[in-house]
Amino acid sequence: MAIEKIVVVDDEMMIRKALETQLRNKRYSVASTGDLKGARKILSRDSFDLVFLDLRLPDGEGTDLLEEIMAKTDGPMVVMMTGYGSVESAVSCMQMGAFDYVVKPFSFDQIEVVVDKVASFDKMRRVTKYYVEESDSRSSDIVGESEPVQRLKTLVDKVAKTEASVLITGENGTGKELVARELYRNSMLSKEPYIRVNCAAISETLMESEFFGHERGAYTGATERREGRFELADGGTILLDEISEIAPSLQAKLLRVLQEWEFERVGGNKTIQVKVRVLATTNRDLTEEVSKGNFREDLYYRLNVFPIAVPPLRDRGDDILLLANTFLLRHARRHGIEKISFSKNCEKRIQSHSWPGNVRELENAVERAVILSEPGKKIEAELLGLGHLSNSASSKKNTSVGKGKEDESMEDVERSHIAKVLADCDGNRTHAAQKLGLNVRTLRNKIKQYSLDA
Ligand SMILES: Nc1ncnc2c1ncn2[C@@H]1O[C@H](COP(=O)(O)OP(=O)(O)OP(=O)(O)O)[C@@H](O)[C@H]1O
Ligand SMILES: [Mg+2]
Repeated sequence: MAIEKIVVVDDEMMIRKALETQLRNKRYSVASTGDLKGARKILSRDSFDLVFLDLRLPDGEGTDLLEEIMAKTDGPMVVMMTGYGSVESAVSCMQMGAFDYVVKPFSFDQIEVVVDKVASFDKMRRVTKYYVEESDSRSSDIVGESEPVQRLKTLVDKVAKTEASVLITGENGTGKELVARELYRNSMLSKEPYIRVNCAAISETLMESEFFGHERGAYTGATERREGRFELADGGTILLDEISEIAPSLQAKLLRVLQEWEFERVGGNKTIQVKVRVLATTNRDLTEEVSKGNFREDLYYRLNVFPIAVPPLRDRGDDILLLANTFLLRHARRHGIEKISFSKNCEKRIQSHSWPGNVRELENAVERAVILSEPGKKIEAELLGLGHLSNSASSKKNTSVGKGKEDESMEDVERSHIAKVLADCDGNRTHAAQKLGLNVRTLRNKIKQYSLDA
């Protein structure tokens, strides 16, 4: 629930007390005062979600305080209180940013309706903030006719309708997030929030607060109370992207949420309950992480109620060309280019490349080619920027031939790049992780994976 703390500002004692009592009975935490001075003091002391504000107060106009509240980015919502005579000024308060107004004398029911309205608006506002930030607006249909993709789509359709947790696995860039979004869009919860957390992009220290929120003053810099992603997702779906990257300490807390659907905010002691459908993705073999002791087994089983494996692009046959043409149209349109196509040679190159970066690599290559293309000419293979044939599926089988730069696999390149950055940072993993744009845990895993710790 988004609304927890409310301030009542009214100089009429009867009204103030009645409102206070009613709201307390509804389990809100309420502070009240009879003037602007008192209100400012209360508001500076703690963060609040809602203020009931009288228009006329002994030491000034309610609008003065309204203006101050509206100037803050994360301030509370405001509902004005007014007598019959001043409805017009209440309306102008709404132009200043007040959420609503109530005319005195008001009934309990009226107040309840207003608080509910504030709560659902507030929730929507918070959710859309993440929704817009986190999801791109591109059409999210899974393109593909090949057998493995047909099977994938059928499975997605079936599993979407259940409320079970789903673990989506697959190599980098295969479309795991796309699958997650399809699961959400086709579920019964498609009208409810969809919140994504990228576990690899958030540092270990911030992750707990990101998941569960924090109370004001929980740590330096926590100037306001903040809801975590689980709270925002309440009633809807959460996507835990790159789940393998979460720290062991947090794995235990996550398990508790998935078992008991409750948690506390960082720095808080109130237990918060949520009901959330959980989707998770990983490009690692989680069973292997479990056997290495990096990932809790019990958490793995909780998440893996329905496993969905997204096939690599190289196994999708003619889909490769189908996808390439889909991206060609999409990016040509975006760049205002009409009538464009691949040359025969270019198509062959697209089909024979091994696409280690999967669909994302294909899309990037096509976009680059569209940008570099010349008006009226077909797109030639070179514009894809794939280097020589060394990367193609055929030569991949023959790894003994040549070891030039272009024969290096993605892993080779990554390994030597990490080694170089580590050396530049004198082995300081925190600095190296920053430079590489990875979190320390991811870096630690990669160091292990490439045996760079020897
Ligand atoms: N079958 C598909 N049809 C259309 N677009 C696709 C398909 N699969 C992937 N894409 C597109 O490819 C890009 C990469 O997909 P996505 O981000 O879902 O991959 P991912 O598996 O989550 O990658 P990573 O492991 O790097 O996080 C996105 O732009 C996505 O829209
Ligand atoms: Mg992803």
